[in-house]
Order: sequence, then structure tokens, then C-alpha cells
Amino acid sequence: MAAPACSSLKSLALSKAILGLWLVSTIAELQRYEHPSNVDGSLSFLIIGDWGRRGTYNQTEVALQMGRIGEKLSINFVISTGIEDTSFEESFTKIYNAKSLQKQWYSVLGNHDYRGDVEEQLSPILRKIDSRWLCLRSFIVDAEIAEIFFVDTTPFVDKYFATQKDHVYDWKGASPREEYIANLLKDVDSALRESTARWKIVVGHHAIRSVGHHGDTKELVKQLLPILEANNIDLYMNGHDHCLEHISSSVSPIQFLTSGGGSKAWRGDVKGMKQMDGVKFYYDDQGFISVQVTQTNAKIAFYDVFGNVIHKWSVSK
Ligand SMILES: *[C@@H]1O[C@H](CO)[C@@H](O)[C@H](O)[C@H]1NC(C)=O
Repeated sequence: MAAPACSSLKSLALSKAILGLWLVSTIAELQRYEHPSNVDGSLSFLIIGDWGRRGTYNQTEVALQMGRIGEKLSINFVISTGIEDTSFEESFTKIYNAKSLQKQWYSVLGNHDYRGDVEEQLSPILRKIDSRWLCLRSFIVDAEIAEIFFVDTTPFVDKYFATQKDHVYDWKGASPREEYIANLLKDVDSALRESTARWKIVVGHHAIRSVGHHGDTKELVKQLLPILEANNIDLYMNGHDHCLEHISSSVSPIQFLTSGGGSKAWRGDVKGMKQMDGVKFYYDDQGFISVQVTQTNAKIAFYDVFGNVIHKWSVSK
């Protein structure tokens, strides 16, 4: 199977890891992929989350606009902050069919992926159906000007480990939990510390800061956030809350972006929104986000179902 963005050596390592060496790879360093930026050094990509449901709930409309904006920005790849679905062909291949979206998709696992057979989402079977798909637990995409760190956030969340009536979680590959989390934090910390990229971006399924339905993920605020602050990352991007959000920080340059509006949005779900410092934007309908970076600046835009820009932000450094 061709792996468009990765060297064949790396994809060999990847399929080996998937074939049962996960224990090794959770102890060893994070898997690393190289994705070249444009000739002029710039890079652009789209972020979409919590998509699925075979095109319903405006998934098709959002996909259409992603295709249009993807073309306009000549995107290099797409980032997925988590899926809401297991019908991969019906909800991925057939929906994101625009020409500009025929790029590599990098994805993290969401909490839904941990219900049922988690290895199915990671497995090379999905890559055989659609070679754009790359989903690992935690990994790094080195896109020259930007380095993107994908972090498996589900095992951090205490409530998934409490006895739950309706959901059974599959923790194989992420156990023992304390060790898994400690190793992951250590790996993320050292990878961030060593990074010389102009822009450092971290992606997880769960929000660190959110005024949406789920709110802050307190375990991540406590354990992951201090590492991200200490290493001066620029952006943290997540899904999980089915909305779009932009929250800034008063103690660090980090911008928190939620892109969870890929299909079923939670319109009107949050009544009497929590007061939180730094909330720049909150939108509880469907949509997606674009990021464009150059050596000197980063531009972020939020889009609705019709492809209108509903919020913009930029920074120079
Ligand atoms: C689709 O998007 C439009 C515009 O935001 C919204 O009015 C409509 O309710 C959405 N449909 C669904 C099923 O979410």
C-alpha cells in the first residue's frame, strides 16, 4: 500500500507496529512522519472533527466547502480531531471526495474509537480502503515549518475508567494506564523540547479549554497543559465538543481551537455559557477551520456550512 506522505521505511515500521509491536512503540519514542511544506516554506491545512453519519447532519455540505476552501488555499493535508462513526467508506471515502481533499489525512483516536475494537481504527485495513487515512495513537508530523504532535488523550480521562453501564472500553495497547500516560507525557515533552520548528502545534481529541458541552478536560489541564506551556507551543487543536471554538490564554501564547463541527452539531446545547477568560469565538453549528503558516505569521479562519468565514485570527512572530 502506497503511503503518500511517508517514506517507505517509515511506513514499513508503521505496519510492523500495527501488526503487534504496540508495546514496544508505547515505550519507544513517538513515530515520526515527514511531510514537506511548500517550496516557499509555507504550509496550509484544514481541521475537521467529529464527522460521520454518512453525509447527514450537513456532513456533505461541510465536505463540499472543505473541498472549495482546500482548493483555494492549496492545502497540504487535512487533520481530523476524531471520528463519530465506524462506517468508514460511507462516511469518509464517499463524502470527502473533492479533488483538493485527496491529500494525506492525519487523525487522532477519539473516545468513540476506544469503544469496540480500538485496533480496527488504527489498522491497515482502513488504509487499504483509503490510502489517505493515517491514524495512530500518538505520533509526530514534521512538516518543516511546523511540527505537529498528535496525542492520544482518551486514556487521560478518569470517567472512562469508572464502571460505565452503556460503554465498554478497549484499553489494550494503552495499559497499564499510569505507565502509558507517564511515557506519553515524557515523549511529548522531549519531542517538543527538541523541536526546532517555527510553529509547534499539538492535536488531541479532547479539549484542554472549552466552554462547550464537555467543558475543560481537567486531567489534561493538570497533566498535559503545563508541558505545552513550558515548551511554548502555538496551537492546541481538538474535537470532542461538537462546535467550533477559539480560546486564548492569559499566561502563554497558546491558542485553543475546537473543531468538532463535522456533522451533528450540538446547537443550543449550552445554556448560560460559562464565563471564561480569553474566549474569542464560540459557534454551535457545523463548520471547520483552516490554518496557514509562513516563517513570519499564522492565519486561522473558521467557516460555516456555506463556507463563509465566521471568525479570523492571525499572529506574527
Ligand atoms: C445545516 O446547517 C444549517 C445552517 O447552519 C442549519 O440551519 C441546519 O439546521 C443544519 N442542519 C442540521 C441537520 O444540522
